[in-house]
Amino acid sequence: MSDAHRFWLNFLLLYAFIASITPEDCFYSQKLPDKLSLLDTKLNLSYCNITRLQPSTFRTYLNLQILDLSYNALEELDFSVFQYHTALEKLDISHNKLRTIKCSSLRYIRGITHVNMSYNYFETAFLCKEFATLTQLRHLGLSATRIDRYDFVNIAHQALETIFLGLEHLQRYESGSLQLLNTEKLHVVLPQVLTDSNLLLYDDFNISTTLEISHVLCEETCDDTIREVNMVIQKSKVSKLILRNITMPWHEMGKILQLSWHSTIEYLTIHRFTFTNRFYYEYIDFSKGSLKSLTFENVIPNVFLYSSVQHPLNIFSEMFVENLTISNAELTYFSCPVKSSIFQSLVLTNNKLSDGIFQNCETLTNIQFLNFQNNILERLSYIPSMTSTMQSLKHLDVSGNRLYTDFNTICEWSESLLVLNFSRNKITDSIFNCLPTNVEILDLSSNQISSVGKELNRLRSLKALYLSSNQLSHIPDCSYISTNLIYLNIDENLIYSPSKEQLTKCQNVKQIIIGKNKYQCNCDLKAFTSTAEMLHENLIGWPESFMCEYPEELKGVILKNFHPSEISCNIFILVGLIVGTMVVLMIFMFFLCKYFDLPWYIRMIFQWLRRKYRVRNSYRDEDMMGKRFHAFISYSQEDYEWVKHLLIPNIEKDDRSIKICHHERDFIAGKTIIENIINCIEKSFKSIFVLSPNFIQSEWCHYELYFAQHSLFGKNSNNLILILLDPIPQYLIPNKYSKLKAIMKHRTYMEWPKVKGKHGLFWANLREAIQTDIPLEDEETSVFN
Ligand SMILES: *[C@@H]1O[C@H](CO)[C@@H](O)[C@H](O)[C@H]1NC(C)=O
Ligand SMILES: *[C@@H]1O[C@H](CO)[C@@H](O)[C@H](O)[C@H]1NC(C)=O
Repeated sequence: MSDAHRFWLNFLLLYAFIASITPEDCFYSQKLPDKLSLLDTKLNLSYCNITRLQPSTFRTYLNLQILDLSYNALEELDFSVFQYHTALEKLDISHNKLRTIKCSSLRYIRGITHVNMSYNYFETAFLCKEFATLTQLRHLGLSATRIDRYDFVNIAHQALETIFLGLEHLQRYESGSLQLLNTEKLHVVLPQVLTDSNLLLYDDFNISTTLEISHVLCEETCDDTIREVNMVIQKSKVSKLILRNITMPWHEMGKILQLSWHSTIEYLTIHRFTFTNRFYYEYIDFSKGSLKSLTFENVIPNVFLYSSVQHPLNIFSEMFVENLTISNAELTYFSCPVKSSIFQSLVLTNNKLSDGIFQNCETLTNIQFLNFQNNILERLSYIPSMTSTMQSLKHLDVSGNRLYTDFNTICEWSESLLVLNFSRNKITDSIFNCLPTNVEILDLSSNQISSVGKELNRLRSLKALYLSSNQLSHIPDCSYISTNLIYLNIDENLIYSPSKEQLTKCQNVKQIIIGKNKYQCNCDLKAFTSTAEMLHENLIGWPESFMCEYPEELKGVILKNFHPSEISCNIFILVGLIVGTMVVLMIFMFFLCKYFDLPWYIRMIFQWLRRKYRVRNSYRDEDMMGKRFHAFISYSQEDYEWVKHLLIPNIEKDDRSIKICHHERDFIAGKTIIENIINCIEKSFKSIFVLSPNFIQSEWCHYELYFAQHSLFGKNSNNLILILLDPIPQYLIPNKYSKLKAIMKHRTYMEWPKVKGKHGLFWANLREAIQTDIPLEDEETSVFN
């Protein structure tokens, strides 16, 4: 079956499986992972109230490797439900109600490495002979109320790594039963009540090198427990002893410490230790013994009691042990050992140690690793001086304190220091003035550093520099950093626009982590992106973790996919484009003007608009007095044909809303022509002059005379409409007609267009110029009254 076939088969099976969901199964309702994947290898079905396993239940999960069925209500188990799950490795069926398992079905889980069957209702710990076929088994968990001599005989030949025995309710133990086991680590939860019939640790304990004992509870005296531990310590080959969840008085713990100090035990670890009384100083012989490493973790302490002689905590500094860990124990103090100590490693994490620890302490000459992570140290200046007496110190971890830079004097570090962890403090830029010169790994992450000082060039051995989660706005200048640098972490800073040059300077650094910064995706970033592409082998997380943060619309876009257009980024192209557009526009305008006479149209429309505006505003009643016509027309005889056949019909139109005084038509006998004309002018609201070279030569002088008399030009030139029928060259106008010259110069006339298409607009404009809402006097009354 090909992968694709398998996928689709699985898909169909899954579909059928989801379709058959029953509400009571939390398997489907709550526990099903959000993204149900057929390729999922882990399935957690704990706390699901499952009472029976159906063969169909897991069929879709053919890749299942880890299955957690703990805390359910299974009463019986047939392993044949897993017959298709050949990859199954870890199975947790603890905390169910199993009384029996179907031994013959064990062959279906032959590949299993971890089985936890503890905390069920099994009465005996007997493992049937089919367990011998589980040859891959390395980790086994069991619980029982009774353990008999040959219960483990079927796995006796198997070399296991861990065996867990939850024996809180053990009632009967047949001596020697555990001897059959063969495991590196045995973890026993001791019976709640120890009686002579269940003292399992009395056996010669040669089955494992690591022993973990949990749940030891003794309020006042712990004789039975101590006796058992003593048996283990005296007679066994155990070299690593772990005591977990211990509740006892401090002096009883003292006895255990004393017993272990000179024994086969090399590593003693005490997890979750609760004192039941006060903590006071007690003399214990802690001179050099077998113990190499002692760990206290999660100590719930009681009140410290000072005797007049000794601070109770001095007991720890007196210990002759190479490695001591006291973690999460509310430790406030650790005194400088009186005699030269053999401490190589002191791990005092998650406590309440404060400034001043180990100042002027000259006995910690063997210390190599000092860890003060998560305490309340504040003044950074104490740290170098503390190390100056520690000639072997290689690794110092003061991360997660409250350290701030307060240097005022020259700082003196231990020369041997190679690893320095300052992360998660409040350190600022001045730290670069004071760093140990031989340091190889320097962790300054999660501080308040905004730029990297040139002083960094003194650290010639620097190999790794951690500066993530600070306030850097630029990539540090790698030319100031040791050429040995192979790792640089400047993730999660404030680098918006990283410079290509600075990145190039760092090209010898094998691993650069800079991805998670708030990149501003604009043209400036292009150069960086292409350099990054070139150096991608050195950039961890390229390209997927390099994303734009700004501008908003590009947020989340991967830098590699951000391609601003060449035009928007190149100033020359941009300028060229603008100039080009303007040139094209100008050429276009030129053609419009040349071939379509655009200025003429513009002028006409402008005049039309202006007239419309003026008509509405500037006529007063006295202007209207005695007017009978809208306009009078004056023209040269040579232009008579044009006036008669074009001008008058086009102005008056059919609706006769405009009345023209045409001296020929409205001629009054007995008057001279000039008198007729003057009368016409006086009865008309406006005067139209049809100008042409003929007009200038023949008639102009008359009108000039008249205008001079009435000074019409000056007073109300709004009422004067000049039509230029034919162009009049300037030289044709005699100098004495200065008025006309001025008018021609200012182009306050309407040009008669020669192109027929423009005539419509010309007439409309002219009509608009003449049209006024004036109340003309009655038609009947004579022109002369
Ligand atoms: C003790 O600590 C030192 C320094 O960290 C380490 O090298 C050594 O392996 C440790 N020894 C034991 C016994 O754990
Ligand atoms: C420094 O300490 C922190 C924990 O406080 C740890 O996560 C980090 O890995 C350490 N740095 C180095 C370089 O070991």
